[in-house]
Amino acid sequence: MDHKVVFITGAGSGMGQLYARKMLAQGWKVAALDVNQSGLNELPDSPNLLRINVDVSDSQAVLAAVQQTESELGHIYRVVNAAGIMPLSRILDQDISLIKKIMDINYGGLVNVAHATLPGLLERKSGEFVSFASLAGHLPVFYVGAYNASKFAVIAYTEVLYQENRGRGVNFTCVCPPPVQTPLLNQARETVWPKIFGILPAISPETVITKIDRALSKNKFWVFPGPVTKLSWVFRRYFPALTWRFVRAYEGL
Ligand SMILES: NC(=O)c1ccc[n+]([C@@H]2O[C@H](COP(=O)([O-])OP(=O)(O)OC[C@H]3O[C@@H](n4cnc5c(N)ncnc54)[C@H](O)[C@@H]3O)[C@@H](O)[C@H]2O)c1
Repeated sequence: MDHKVVFITGAGSGMGQLYARKMLAQGWKVAALDVNQSGLNELPDSPNLLRINVDVSDSQAVLAAVQQTESELGHIYRVVNAAGIMPLSRILDQDISLIKKIMDINYGGLVNVAHATLPGLLERKSGEFVSFASLAGHLPVFYVGAYNASKFAVIAYTEVLYQENRGRGVNFTCVCPPPVQTPLLNQARETVWPKIFGILPAISPETVITKIDRALSKNKFWVFPGPVTKLSWVFRRYFPALTWRFVRAYEGL
């Protein structure tokens, strides 16, 4: 295979880091982006690895990272958008600046990466673009409001991006995991842990990565890893009032 450059955001931890390790092990050239330098340093040294300390919410820095990747590793083939944050709170108790920061990173970062990478992929009529959305992008619940809003935005943006560019040689995949055993969940533990998380047991990051690779090989857009994720999505979609009644009762609110 000659398409061997993958550009991964959030590669310093959790699923982004696991994916970077997997791609390196398979011989891909990996541009690993994160604000977490020590996380990037955990990746094994390799001539195929480019560590870039970049904040995805900074559009100019993302553009510079894409240029650096293409000049040092070659044309990007696969883009994986895994950078994200998830501090939780009741909406009105959360600082306005934090709510906007969640949107700037989780959604704005995706926009910056899409605009910096996709013109090249589309021009070459070849490539793959993966968005990490979340079950939270379909299922709004107490304490998760700002994160929900950012992931609803990720889903809408990615879905339209996909439809507008169908048939142009680039595959799009939107992954919607339930809770996953990564350090991201510590941000909920450090703020507030919604009881509803208890009925969606956290799955392993490996499960999610395997599902993404399977979807990419079959050119599938939606990926719902985990045993009850699709069911939760269907339930919310067709029975929203009942879903809220259940969520309220479960949280005791
Ligand atoms: N873990 C879960 O339960 C879960 C569930 C559904 C979706 N997701 C999504 O999956 C993706 C990966 O999450 P994870 O669980 O691996 O989390 P993680 O916290 O382990 O890793 C996220 C990485 O993003 C980096 N990051 C944060 N802000 C950044 C910024 N401004 N610029 C660059 N990098 C930044 C962090 O430093 C971290 O290394 C995220 O988009 C997350 O929202 C996670």
